[in-house]
Order: sequence, then C-alpha cells, then structure tokens
Amino acid sequence: MKQVKIGIVGLGFMGTTHWGVYKGLKNAKITAIADVDAKKCKGDVSAVVGNIGGGDNSKPLDLTGVNVYESARALVNDADVDIVDICVPTPDHADIVCAALAAGKHVFCEKPLCRDAAQLKRIVAAVRKAKTFFNVGLCVRAWPEYRHAYEYFRSGKAGKMKSATFKRISPSVDGNAWRNWFMDGKMSGGALLDLHVHDADEVNYFFGMPKSVTAVGATGVVSKGGVDHVVATYDYGNGALVMAEGGWAAAKGTPFEMSFTIVCEKATLKLDASGYHIYPVKGKPITPKLDVKAGPTGWHQELAYFVNCVAKGVKPEKYQTIDSVEKTMKLVFAEERSVKGRKSVKL
Ligand SMILES: NC(=O)c1ccc[n+]([C@@H]2O[C@H](COP(=O)([O-])OP(=O)(O)OC[C@H]3O[C@@H](n4cnc5c(N)ncnc54)[C@H](O)[C@@H]3O)[C@@H](O)[C@H]2O)c1
Repeated sequence: MKQVKIGIVGLGFMGTTHWGVYKGLKNAKITAIADVDAKKCKGDVSAVVGNIGGGDNSKPLDLTGVNVYESARALVNDADVDIVDICVPTPDHADIVCAALAAGKHVFCEKPLCRDAAQLKRIVAAVRKAKTFFNVGLCVRAWPEYRHAYEYFRSGKAGKMKSATFKRISPSVDGNAWRNWFMDGKMSGGALLDLHVHDADEVNYFFGMPKSVTAVGATGVVSKGGVDHVVATYDYGNGALVMAEGGWAAAKGTPFEMSFTIVCEKATLKLDASGYHIYPVKGKPITPKLDVKAGPTGWHQELAYFVNCVAKGVKPEKYQTIDSVEKTMKLVFAEERSVKGRKSVKL
C-alpha cells in the first residue's frame, strides 16, 4: 500500500496526539517533524500535557527515519512530505499554511485557523488558489456523537430546531504549553477563540450563520487579558434560542465537559455526562450506534479521512469547505468584538 507522507510541525499536546493517530493508520507514515524546542527535536515529549485525552508521552518518540527540523520553513520544503500538519500556537498558523501551500503540499491545520481577520484573509486566498487539499482541525464536526446529531438533524428527522445549547468547560491549561502561550490573551485569544471556537463552529455547522451575535465574557480570570469564559447567544430572527458557553477557568482536576441539548419539534438530542441520546416526542429514547470505525475521537476521524482523501486524490469536503471555516472564524471574531464593545454584532 502506498503510504501518505506526513510532516508534523509542533510536537506539543496536539502534535503528539496527531502522532499517535497517524501511527495507527496503515496508509500514513510520519516522515518529518519540526519544532523550535530542541528537546522535542530529540523526541522528548515528557513535558506535554493537554486538557482532554491525548496519549502517553512518558516514552520518547521513535524518530528513526524521520527528518527533524527546527523550523517549519525547512519542513515545508522537504520533498519527502505530502501533508504538512500544523500544530503550533495559533498566531503562527497563517505563515506556515501559506508557505506549505505555496510549496505544493496538502495542509492540515489545527483550529482555531488563525488569530485575526487579516490572517484569515491571507489564508483563505491561499487555500482558494492552491491545487492541493486543505482541512482545519475542527474536530468536533467529526466527533462521533456530534456527527451523528448533525446528520440526524440535517436529515430532517428531528424537525425544526426550537432551542439549542452547546457547552465546553475545561480546567486551565496553565503551565503545560509552550511558553504558557494559552494564558497570553494576545496569542491564544483566550477560551473564547481557542476552546469555544468548537461550539461557535457547531452553531454555524448545524444552523448556518446567524443574523447577529451577542456575547458576554469574563476577561483576565486566569489568563493575561484573554476572555476566559464566554456566553454567546445567536439570533436567527425566527424565535429560536441558540446559545453556546465555553470556559477554561475551572480548577485543575475538574473533568472536561462537552455537552449539547438541541430541542427540536419532533425530538430532543442530548449529549452530557450520561452519554448521547435522542428523545423523540413520540416513542422511546434512542441510544444511537455511533460510527467509530476510524477511532473513538474526532481527531481519529478527521485525520483518517484527510489521509484517505490525499491517498485517493478526492477533495476532502465531508466535514468542511474553506467557505464554512471562514464563516466560523468571522463568527468568533464577531464575538470578540461583542464582548469588548458590550453590544450585539451584526453578521
Ligand atoms: N483540536 C483540538 O482539540 C485542540 C486541542 C488543543 C490544542 N489545539 C490547537 O493546536 C495548536 C497547538 O496547541 P498545543 O496544545 O499542541 O500547544 P503546545 O504548546 O502544547 O505545543 C506547541 C508546540 O509547537 C512548538 N512551536 C512553537 N512555535 C513553533 C514554531 N513557530 N515552529 C515550530 N514549532 C513551534 C512548541 O515547541 C510546542 O512543542 C493550537 O492552535 C491549539 O489551539 C487543538
């Protein structure tokens, strides 16, 4: 079997998570890594800890046969790389995405796609121009429970949506990341951009773009200047109430929460600590069988899918197009403005 050759840029929490996923794919082979940290370049990832899941990082990564670089620029020019997988802090995504696409590589970039509107414009133009493939790690679109709910809702089985709430609450990632970058609001955009982007994205993915958004936030609770907890309401002008809440100021050890309740005419779809269930208005509750062939998480699903698409030369549009990702980014940037200006923002 021909293997797709992967170069991972950034071997922190997400880079090591991706490393583990690729190692389980028969049609993928990691041929290169790049990291500015000399320890990571030797395979020592023992300091890496994330807020949810991830692998066992106590043993060093086996870098036999892997080209190692201290800069992304060098990796994107490696002829032995088909996909550049970008897992560095958010403000650095734009330059690396554009350089990798210009070098003719396929690109998988972690979420949030970028830090601001100017970077978004550059990336979207580069993606539209490129002949190669591009996907963003909006892994919740591919997370089995969310995916099932999305397909069920979009099939029309649940009927019209009346209200929807999405929630994501995490303990602080303080101290574990590269130079503690998540706790610098200018770099990470706080929980609003970094964590809550997943749920703003689900809102856009399920229901399309709202007419306006109103967001309130708690700023500088655990980070320097970042919005550490946000509550956003989305106005569709049709009487439905759509809300999303996200925060990362919970005490260390607090279990990570991701949940939703989508109330529709014919059924309520619900994910919480008790699992994922559908409660039809008529009939018994359903516990759907989920498609976990590619693995239990959205990370497994999205990466297996992207690698397959590159292997087969099929444009990867199952989970996203650049247009839908662009809209999500415009939505979260509007939320930033709403929190700052204490007012609704039209979209
Ligand atoms: N999809 C998800 O569920 C999810 C979860 C966590 C993080 N993320 C995203 O993944 C990205 C990385 O986050 P993380 O948690 O892995 O951070 P991290 O701090 O754990 O890791 C970042 C790594 O990049 C390296 N690095 C920093 N700047 C670099 C550069 N310019 N070139 C090469 N290497 C560089 C650092 O040395 C470090 O190893 C962020 O955009 C973050 O928002 C996504």
